[in-house]
Amino acid sequence: MAEQGTGRLAGKVAIVTGAARGQGRAEAELFAAEGAVVVAADVLDVSDLDGVHLDVSSSESWAAAVAVAVERHGRVDVLVNNAAIYPKGGIDSTTEAEYRQVLDINLVGPFLGMQAVLPHMGEGASIINISSLNGVAGSVDHVGYTASKFGVRGLTRAAALDLAPRGIRVNAILPGVIDTPMIAPAISGLEDYIGKGIPMQRMGQPRDIASAALFLASDDAAWITGTDLIVDGGHYATVPKL
Ligand SMILES: NC(=O)c1ccc[n+]([C@@H]2O[C@H](COP(=O)([O-])OP(=O)(O)OC[C@H]3O[C@@H](n4cnc5c(N)ncnc54)[C@H](O)[C@@H]3O)[C@@H](O)[C@H]2O)c1
Repeated sequence: MAEQGTGRLAGKVAIVTGAARGQGRAEAELFAAEGAVVVAADVLDVSDLDGVHLDVSSSESWAAAVAVAVERHGRVDVLVNNAAIYPKGGIDSTTEAEYRQVLDINLVGPFLGMQAVLPHMGEGASIINISSLNGVAGSVDHVGYTASKFGVRGLTRAAALDLAPRGIRVNAILPGVIDTPMIAPAISGLEDYIGKGIPMQRMGQPRDIASAALFLASDDAAWITGTDLIVDGGHYATVPKL
């Protein structure tokens, strides 16, 4: 049965990237339950929602996707730059092409997305860029991903300053370990072990991030911009055991 919300996004038009699965899917579903019209964008098929094809690394693809959204719904009030890839590769093993690809999708993608939607956004709009705990700390064997997620935080702050005079807010969410297809291969069989290492004693679920995105998208966050919201069950607060 479809979830009943309380209308916290009533009347708003939202684009969520990477909405075919994982956190993007949860955000699209929760936003819709809270009254938003949601355009679900992905390289994968999202035809069961109000879906549109989008490769976030291409400005042409952004132009086409935003044109569809604006044609259908007239404007954009919320953009969640959620799509990303998580390729394995350390400083010795990552090729230049691999490094450029992860930056293209994870860091250039949100930049292109903001530029594409801004002409259709007005005062009160909200942009949410999904970074990671890898935006504040490195991970072994993920040099490109870590660099991209640090970059997303900088992009967020600079854009927030540029857009504050127009009443458009830009914030980053830094998820901890979230149970999605992105990390499933890396954590297979280790779920309980990883959960016990997190202060809240479990891995995050996509809904945990969607709830935070809902808050930042809503007018409840009207005076919040240029900030990082860490959503990680306390993971970043811990000192590693020696
Ligand atoms: N899962 C985690 O533990 C975790 C932790 C921290 C941050 N994050 C971040 O959260 C966000 C969502 O991740 P997830 O865990 O739901 O991952 P996921 O892999 O389950 O979903 C990512 C979605 O992005 C889409 N995508 C990939 N490349 C794309 C492109 N070029 N254009 C359009 N869509 C594209 C995929 O098709 C997929 O539907 C990502 O930004 C990720 O970096 C995830």
